Amino acid sequence: MLDLTFTSLPAKRLLTGLFCFYMTCTSPAWASELGDKAQIDSASGLVIQPGFEMVRAHCTACHSAKLVTQNHMSRERWLSTIRWMQKTQNLWALPREDEILDYLSANYGERDMGRRAPLPAHLMPKS
Ligand code: HEC
Repeated sequence: MLDLTFTSLPAKRLLTGLFCFYMTCTSPAWASELGDKAQIDSASGLVIQPGFEMVRAHCTACHSAKLVTQNHMSRERWLSTIRWMQKTQNLWALPREDEILDYLSANYGERDMGRRAPLPAHLMPKS
């Protein structure tokens, strides 16, 4: 009987820890699904928003959609990435390119929180 009390406390802590880990480390997926009501296409990982079909059709032919979803760029940088692929990677001329750029910059645009706060002085390497 006594043993149970002593062993269940660490077990509870472990479970609480796992729960917190799950909630924090997996939060982006459910946060964007529940918070913004944006659905994620489970096959590609792309956000289902206007323009999704176009992007899925044209941007997953040569490489994984992860190259798209892992990037966050301004509209200009998305455009220059597309131009670069057209020049060097045989990407074709995109029909309704504007819709593709709208989708990319709306859903994979530059993040507000892209830059972290500067390191405090005591954490900086000594020069
Ligand atoms: C004709 C083939 C092809 C198509 C279609 C294509 N890409 Fe690419 N893309 C490439 C290749 C090749 C690379 C380089 C991959 C590598 O470095 O591993 C690349 C790289 C990228 C990168 C990474 C660029 C970097 O600076 O690292 C992004 C982002 C990207 N593509 C987005 C897109 C988007 C958005 C579309 C749809 C408009 C698209 N791609 C369609 C061939 C293509």
